[in-house]
Amino acid sequence: MAYRVHILQTGAAFVAGADESLLEAAERAAVKLPHECTFGGCGTCRIKLESGAVRYDEFPMALTPEEAAEGYALACQARAESDLCISVPSSRQVFPEPRQLAATVHRIDAYTDDIIHLTLALPDGGLDYVPGQYMNVLLPDGETRSFSMASVPSDGLVDFHVRRIPGGRYTDLWLGQAQPGAALTIEAPLGVFSYHEEDWRPLIMVATGTGIAPIKAILESLLDKEDCPPVTLYWGMRTQADLYLQDEIAGWAGRLYEFNFVPVLSRADASWQGRRGHVQDAVAQDHDDLSEHAIYLCGAPAMIQDAKHMLAGRGASLDYIYADSFT
Ligand code: FES
Repeated sequence: MAYRVHILQTGAAFVAGADESLLEAAERAAVKLPHECTFGGCGTCRIKLESGAVRYDEFPMALTPEEAAEGYALACQARAESDLCISVPSSRQVFPEPRQLAATVHRIDAYTDDIIHLTLALPDGGLDYVPGQYMNVLLPDGETRSFSMASVPSDGLVDFHVRRIPGGRYTDLWLGQAQPGAALTIEAPLGVFSYHEEDWRPLIMVATGTGIAPIKAILESLLDKEDCPPVTLYWGMRTQADLYLQDEIAGWAGRLYEFNFVPVLSRADASWQGRRGHVQDAVAQDHDDLSEHAIYLCGAPAMIQDAKHMLAGRGASLDYIYADSFT
């Protein structure tokens, strides 16, 4: 059985078999759909069904029941059950084409016991990317590791925040011993997580752990901009010692329009005077009505799932929730 899939905005069409994903069918027909992980974990391939029905062999992690009920689907997992008309999220953003580059370690030091601050030097004027995007480090055995850029594009230097995995071949063994000048090959820029300037809504940014990195790059790109909407940043960490960017973030207060920073700790000691618990709970506690906000989520899949569910319950529109999910 095969069905016709029509893309509303572009008029492009392709044929999808009942046993292949919409993404596989689109790629076979050379129709581009945004995607990253291809296993239902990141949400990048989210589309909206204008008409028709899809099914899943297994309901994907990066889709909430609320999203499915509103007609959203994940193209990498959804299989057509009828002819479909879909819309693909549009943004004014144009993303540079990814390419492979030789990079060298410019600086490497520790933010905390388990978070490394890595600065790479890139040749020929550096890397053109949109704040929010990420790179893949290509390892000699063909594997890759992904890290979001944590700074705005500048002359040849790019910052990353790398969580060390104890015993991990790359983050612990290689990076743990790397010195300035060490060479590595990267593929970048990748991903579609980015600021949607066209939304014109107050921003709520929610990060856990090193999910702060792409959020930092986005917010740095908004510093001193007169048309920046009000921003509230929630950052979930375990302890006070984990808040490695606290001073730098506090320094944005005079440079972002109406900036509010809310660190939320899940394992703070008795001396902590600030917010406690899960970061998504703090957002929900602070807002009865999120129907006029744009929300950016960056962190572990479980946080993003829970946050989407909870914030949709506060009226947040799924059209204005943008997520970057990573493990
Ligand atoms: Fe489909 Fe990641 S590409 S969820």
